[in-house]
Amino acid sequence: MRVAGTPHRTIALARDGWSVEVIDQTALPHRFELIRLTSSAEAARAIRDMVVRGAPLIGATAAYGMALALRDDPTDRCLYAAARALVATRPTAVNLGRAVRAMLDHLRAVSPRQRVAAAYARAGALCEEDVAANRALGGHGLAILRGLAERNGGGPVNVLTHCNAGWLATVDWGTALAPVYLAAREGVPVHVWVTETRPRNQGALTAWELSHEGVPHTFTVDNAAGHLMRLGKVDVVLVGTDRTTAAGDVCNKIGTYLLAAAARDNHLPFYAAVPGPSIDWETDDSAAIPIEERQAREVTHVAGLDGDERAATVRVAPDGTPIANFGFDITPARLVTGLITERGVAGASREGLRGLYPDGA
Ligand code: MRU
Repeated sequence: MRVAGTPHRTIALARDGWSVEVIDQTALPHRFELIRLTSSAEAARAIRDMVVRGAPLIGATAAYGMALALRDDPTDRCLYAAARALVATRPTAVNLGRAVRAMLDHLRAVSPRQRVAAAYARAGALCEEDVAANRALGGHGLAILRGLAERNGGGPVNVLTHCNAGWLATVDWGTALAPVYLAAREGVPVHVWVTETRPRNQGALTAWELSHEGVPHTFTVDNAAGHLMRLGKVDVVLVGTDRTTAAGDVCNKIGTYLLAAAARDNHLPFYAAVPGPSIDWETDDSAAIPIEERQAREVTHVAGLDGDERAATVRVAPDGTPIANFGFDITPARLVTGLITERGVAGASREGLRGLYPDGA
C-alpha cells in the first residue's frame, strides 16, 4: 500500500539481493524508517522486539530469517537451530510456526549446496501467497461492506477495528483492512473507528496507514468502543486474528473479546478476517493457545513525542505497582458473525471452516 503516494510492502529483499528490508514499526507513526536484517538472529530480534509485528508478517520475517541462517551455514544443524530460535520469539500467532514448518518441509529435501537459493525462493513465495490471500479475503469482505452501504442508503459504512490488522501487519493489503482499502478504491463510502489499543498503541499504526491511503477514520481510546456502538455510530466490527482454532474461536489482540461482547449486546455484526495460515487446525480448544505476556514496562510507561516533537517516555503507573500484561484474548465462536477468509466467509464453527477447507490449509 502507499506511503506518501509511493507503494510499499512491509518486507522485501534489499537491493543487495540477500539482506531483508523491513519497516521499523517501533518508529511509526512518527518516523518512517527502513532497516536491513542481515542475519537470522536479527530477524528473531526484530520479531521479539516488535520491529515487525502482526501474525502474517511475523511468519514472513521468520521465513526470511531461515534463509539468512542458511547463508551463514547451510547444514541441517543450522537449519533446525534457526527454526527453534525463530519459533521461540513470540508464542501466540500460529503463522510463525506455520511459516517455519513450511520452510523446514521444503528445505529438508534440498541438498545443503542448493539450500540458500531454495530458501530465498520459498520465503519469497510465502510472501506472495500472503499478498494473494489478503487481496482475495478483501474481496469477500468488500461484499459485506457493500451490503451495509446499501442498507445505509449509500451513506458511509462505519467500521470499528482494533489493533493493527492492516498492511503493516502483513506483507501487503492487511487482513481486516483489506476490505476497507478495496471499498475505498471502489467508491464504497467507508469510515473507520480506530481503537488506540493500549499498551502498545497499534491503533496509531492503523491511523497512520489509513491516512496514507486517504481513508476517513477517527482514532479513539479503547474504552469508547461500547459507547460508540450504543450511539449507533458503528455498523460492523472487523478485526484480525493471530490464531483461530479449528472450532472457530478467535484469538486476537487483548480487548477483542470485549468488543465482540459489546457488538453482540448492540446487535452488531462482528467479523474476524482470517487468512488460511492463521487457522490452527491442530487446536480445537482455545484454552490451549499460549497467550503472550509481555514486559510490565509496556503498561507502566507510555512512549511518544514531547511538546518539542522529541521522543519521550513517561511513567503513568505508580512506582512498583503490580502489573498484568496479556497480549491477546479469545473471542468465543458464538460471538463471531463470520470468518472472512480468502476462500469466502465461513461460519465460526468447525463445520463452517471445514466447508471452505475440506483438507485443512
Ligand atoms: O502484538 P501484535 O501487534 O503482533 O498483534 C497483532 C494483532 O493482534 C493483529 O490483530 C493480528 O496479528 C492480525 S494481523 C493481520
